Amino acid sequence: MNYENILHHTENNVLTITINRPDKLNALNSATLMELNDMLVKSRNNDDVHVLVITGAGQKAFVAGADIAEFTSLDAEGGRMLSKRGNQIFASIENYPKPVIAAVNGFALGGGLELALSCHIRIASDNARMGLPEVTLGLIPGYGGTQRLSQMIGKGKAFEMIFTADMIKADEALNLGLLNAVVPQAELMNKVAELVEKIKSKSRVAISHVIAAVNANYKDGVNGFEAEIEEFGKCFESVDAKEGAQAFIEKRKANFVGTVDKA
Ligand code: COA
Repeated sequence: MNYENILHHTENNVLTITINRPDKLNALNSATLMELNDMLVKSRNNDDVHVLVITGAGQKAFVAGADIAEFTSLDAEGGRMLSKRGNQIFASIENYPKPVIAAVNGFALGGGLELALSCHIRIASDNARMGLPEVTLGLIPGYGGTQRLSQMIGKGKAFEMIFTADMIKADEALNLGLLNAVVPQAELMNKVAELVEKIKSKSRVAISHVIAAVNANYKDGVNGFEAEIEEFGKCFESVDAKEGAQAFIEKRKANFVGTVDKA
């Protein structure tokens, strides 16, 4: 696939995807969603990729929402299909087996906030503004926002943000637990890189089991504690679990290779 709306590069095992429509504040049109999805599918099992970072082009916006220009021709069935597609793609980010970090470099509104919410961790620049303004358009959040925002900040605050369509500042979002950290814009990518380096020194296999176990709590009909038991057990299939324990006993730093022991 030719990518016309996203940029991507992999360096030191970190894949950075940049939503690249700065003239439209990186609004997610259908083509952008398809390209993002394609990149997610391709990178999911690519062993060179250990961590994924998602950000927006320019200084002003992470993503200012779904592309409103595409809404004018939608009927109910078209709306359902669009929402289903967006939900599927964002669920694949949430369930991506490697850490996904949103570098929120400005407006994260509507589908942009929903994209950030589907990532595992959110680091924002101090100019970031967050909100779900869909009711202003006669709509509701359709890419998982009604679910993930209430999971993250509680039902009352989520209702307030969605009813009022208010944009909140980065420091308020940090206080609500919506963001993990806020830094000056010039420091955003350094802060992300610092976090990435810390994560990369740990066992990738273990981290993929962490993602599955934590996400299990949010899945219908799945008992998260049972899932944790299962994922804990699976860790012992990995070379990393043996190396981790051995390194501790030998009082040295573990050298994780990130593979599963097939023997
Ligand atoms: N969909 C489509 N185009 C969008 C967009 C979106 N979600 N958000 C911004 N744009 C476009 C604008 O139409 C404008 O394009 P133009 O120059 O061709 O007219 C360009 O991006 C710049 O936006 P502009 O509104 O001029 O910037 P601003 O600094 O005055 O305002 C915002 C910034 C984010 C407050 C404003 O763009 C906005 O409210 N966007 C929509 C946010 C939203 O409702 N998102 C949820 C969608 S479900």
